[in-house]
Amino acid sequence: MMEKVYIETYGCQMNFADSEVIAAILTKAGYGIGESVEDADFILINTCAIRDNAEQRVRHRVRELKAMQNRRHNLRVGVLGCMAERLQSRLMAEEENVSFVCGPDAYRRLPGMLAQVRKNEELRVKNEKLAEVELSTTETYADIEPVRLAGNGISAYISIMRGCQNYCAYCVVPYTRGRERSRDPETIVGEARSLFEQGYREVTLLGQNVNSYGLTPSPSPLGDGSAMRVDFPDLLELVAQIDPQMRVRFATSHPKDLSDKLLEVMAKYPNICRCIHLPVQSGSNRMLKLMNRKYTVEWYLDRVEAIRRAMPDCSITTDVIAGFSTETLEDHEATLDLFRKVHYDYAYMFKYSLREGTYAWKHLADDIPEEEKTRRLNEIIALQGEIALENNRKEVGKEYEVLVEGESHRSKEQLFGRNSQNKVLVFDKGDARPGTYRRVRVDSCTAATLIGTLVQ
Ligand code: 5AD
Ligand code: SF4
Repeated sequence: MMEKVYIETYGCQMNFADSEVIAAILTKAGYGIGESVEDADFILINTCAIRDNAEQRVRHRVRELKAMQNRRHNLRVGVLGCMAERLQSRLMAEEENVSFVCGPDAYRRLPGMLAQVRKNEELRVKNEKLAEVELSTTETYADIEPVRLAGNGISAYISIMRGCQNYCAYCVVPYTRGRERSRDPETIVGEARSLFEQGYREVTLLGQNVNSYGLTPSPSPLGDGSAMRVDFPDLLELVAQIDPQMRVRFATSHPKDLSDKLLEVMAKYPNICRCIHLPVQSGSNRMLKLMNRKYTVEWYLDRVEAIRRAMPDCSITTDVIAGFSTETLEDHEATLDLFRKVHYDYAYMFKYSLREGTYAWKHLADDIPEEEKTRRLNEIIALQGEIALENNRKEVGKEYEVLVEGESHRSKEQLFGRNSQNKVLVFDKGDARPGTYRRVRVDSCTAATLIGTLVQ
């Protein structure tokens, strides 16, 4: 009988996109995709290593699965993704119920690994554990059409590049996901077109820094080591041209590389969404330098201004880290000041977490006490809450075109969708259907949601 895998995903959008590649590889090899942990012979945990708390969550989950394994003796657990890459076989030594680990560039080996796990059992080879963690400079999984997992059939992720070589001082990603490489543009456009034909109406192009798409010299589709001829604005334009009814989003933009050409292309196509995720990390030049971010606050604000000039209605979101090495109260105040200046529509806010192997781990002290990190983080969160509410209040009375996504989580009588700015709008159902565009007028708001009415 066909064996089944269940894939559990933690972390960023990129990991969710990877899980769909993993599902495709395993389906092709004859495995079924289980609907739940109960419905599987293998549980694959696709993990995140960006902060310690992300890793602790996965450790907790792995231990929880042990009880289930005691009841079902054939059930095997494997750890995939960034934590697998970072810890390698150490993870199997520390968590004895993990049978194999597989890093982000080794997913094509998974069918072989699963088969080996079963073979080892048959041969009663004890402690024969498997680790595939080699990183690649060329793997982009370009030829694999992802199997969409638990999606809404309306919006999908498309991974356009892998890895990162920016080496921000605090960040583990360059070590867990390897060198930056771009996927062949034709396969990306092909995937987006095929999604549109299947009824999807929104794609999000994903990369650690999409602005350097196509600029890293290797690999090129020409196979000659030259840079691609298609850069990110070109690629965005190609995807936007598939159909005006197909929305295009992207993440993430490194502020150092955000070009005017990108803004021009965005402004030219109404179906490229008016939303830019522009992680700032800190509002202090001293911190930015120590973080190796390669831009200043002045440069960042210039980019924000350029965005607003090109698209006055564009929303801007960010990531920020509180309590990085040697951060003073003055540095922290500078971050709060920057938040007041930019007026972000949304922010992902984190406490600094020291990661083994990074530049900061080797050279910089993790010297802000935990309680002080928490205090600074809470101050940023409180300020951003006020800003978001203030921003949303300005939306009351405006009308937006909303891509309807499904039933609201709060009420069966209501639907929700997003506008181009990626804001969630909730409204009474009327005759609206998921997967279609409808005009909605904003009547009221909270800091997180706009509440409105269908405009007939
Ligand atoms: N500690 C806290 N936050 C981090 N990030 C990356 N590394 C760390 C770390 N060591 C945050 C950054 C990045 C986001 C994806 O995660 O803000 O933009
Ligand atoms: Fe990490 Fe910096 Fe790369 Fe983003 S750009 S993944 S923060 S190293």
